[in-house]
Amino acid sequence: MKKVLVAGATGYLGRYAVQEFKNRGYQVRALVRNPEKFKKPGPFFAPSIETLVDEVVFGDATKPETITGLCDGIDVVFSSLGMIKPDFEHTNFDVDYQGNMNILAEALNSGVKKFIYVSVFEAHRMMNIPNVQAHEKFVRELQAASIESTIIRPNGFFSEIGQFVARARRGYMIWVGDGYQRQNPVHGADLAAVCADAVDRSDREIEVGGPEVFTYHEMVDLACEIAGVQPLLLPLPFWLADGLVGVVGLFNRDVHDVALFATTLSKMDFVSPKYGTHRLRDFFNECKSLPI
Ligand SMILES: NC(=O)c1ccc[n+]([C@@H]2O[C@H](COP(=O)([O-])OP(=O)(O)OC[C@H]3O[C@@H](n4cnc5c(N)ncnc54)[C@H](OP(=O)(O)O)[C@@H]3O)[C@@H](O)[C@H]2O)c1
Repeated sequence: MKKVLVAGATGYLGRYAVQEFKNRGYQVRALVRNPEKFKKPGPFFAPSIETLVDEVVFGDATKPETITGLCDGIDVVFSSLGMIKPDFEHTNFDVDYQGNMNILAEALNSGVKKFIYVSVFEAHRMMNIPNVQAHEKFVRELQAASIESTIIRPNGFFSEIGQFVARARRGYMIWVGDGYQRQNPVHGADLAAVCADAVDRSDREIEVGGPEVFTYHEMVDLACEIAGVQPLLLPLPFWLADGLVGVVGLFNRDVHDVALFATTLSKMDFVSPKYGTHRLRDFFNECKSLPI
């Protein structure tokens, strides 16, 4: 039986990855830094992992002394470890780059056969964003290391639009630009299946999106229809959004970086190869049960 380490196991994608590997008969070891999150289900219906994992290592990837021996006996490392929102303590380079470098060092020490890493779709178009720079710095190191690797390049996750229905019910929806840029967001379970398939695929990189393509406008319309309300629609023109991002940058670098990510995404089409079966309508219907 193959043994996999899942790093980022309490995150939206990591939880589905644990579930997918377990369902495929792997022995699963999880890297977890927060024991409370380990016990609870995740956001936006991502499963609880407490009963799925075979072993858990409590550690912080940015502190190498807490993850010594992390990969002993492991065949495959899967890492969706990253920082998607500021924690006001670490930078993206501390987490997405150095945290994953510390795991890679453990994997090399322990003779792991394959390392699967989750970066972002079309990173080369977003190299102005620190989060993407940090991901790609690690990608370069991983691809130069003496270990087989696959980079997963996903589109936006359903979790990123999980608040749409709640926002519509609150009575307002804000977005940047005209809302006509297209994307195909992906459900965590569909993406986790591609990540697990990557163990036996020889691709250097795999681009992944969900099965349906929407404009931002269409996603907003769908959320409003499902919420059963017609909220106030507040499109921010690009010049205003860019100005606000610039001003925020004068005060707080971390919030600036997240806002820059949002405005950059809203200016481009991001349509990636289609995978999976989960439909946005069904997900938004589930989201009706969430508190406003
Ligand atoms: N969300 C998207 O739409 C999207 C799209 C494309 C690519 N990605 C990339 O995919 C990856 C996963 O995204 P996600 O949405 O699943 O993120 P997430 O829910 O925030 O999960 C990130 C995971 O990393 C863990 N982590 C962070 N710092 C750590 C540390 N120092 N030590 C140990 N664990 C640590 C988190 O632990 P805690 O639970 O304790 O915080 C969490 O389990 C990220 O790298 C992201 O940039 C995301």
